[in-house]
Amino acid sequence: MIITVGNTKGGVGKTTIALNLAIARALQGRDVWLIDGDRQGTAQTAITIRAENGKQPAISCAHYPDGSTLRAQVIQTGPKFQDIIIDAGGRDSTALRAALILSDVLVIPFAPRSLDVWALADIDNLIQEAKAVRDGLRVIAMLNNADPQGHDNDDAAAAVADFPSMEYVATPIRRRKPIANAAGQGMSVLEYSPKDAKSIDEMTALVNAVFMSN
Ligand SMILES: Nc1ncnc2c1ncn2[C@@H]1O[C@H](COP(=O)(O)OP(=O)(O)O)[C@@H](O)[C@H]1O
Ligand SMILES: [Mg+2]
Repeated sequence: MIITVGNTKGGVGKTTIALNLAIARALQGRDVWLIDGDRQGTAQTAITIRAENGKQPAISCAHYPDGSTLRAQVIQTGPKFQDIIIDAGGRDSTALRAALILSDVLVIPFAPRSLDVWALADIDNLIQEAKAVRDGLRVIAMLNNADPQGHDNDDAAAAVADFPSMEYVATPIRRRKPIANAAGQGMSVLEYSPKDAKSIDEMTALVNAVFMSN
């Protein structure tokens, strides 16, 4: 499967979620390729730290911020892997546009805050572009960096309902220190020590929703 974690907005948790999805699948024994499609290259940096720490499972990672390079590499090298996770962002990101055309699933992290909700309209435009040239892109919007408040889920579901191209999955990831700390070491919160049961439960629910036990 090819999964893109994308949003035209920065700071929503694309890299954090992409790292966690890639490592979660590797922990399940899948051959995973993580592609950093963001100029900033933070996913690549995180995986470099992971490699320097000798952390297993090792994750294959490449940095292709340019859309045409990303496309060519995924077409040529992609079939060697069972799962490809692409971290792509930026309003004018050619990598994000290329990734949308190649992907089975787009995961859009957003926070339950106005600026993020407005940004959904922005990425919806890119989704429409991609859908004009291909069928079968599944688009999942999910809350990340949520504060533990009761109304967040309902508000987010209502915001996503404005976009028929998107499906809201009620698997919010809350703002949790272990999630940020783990990512800073190139790790998923699933493998982070000391174990944080709530983070693990939330991340596991998201992984199941994205891959639907594929
Ligand atoms: N669920 C979370 N809990 C705690 N911190 C988070 C969470 N998601 C993201 N962060 C933090 O928020 C910041 C932005 O996340 P990042 O994954 O880099 O976003 P993006 O790739 O969309 O720019 C980082 O400092 C990251 O550690
Ligand atoms: Mg990022």
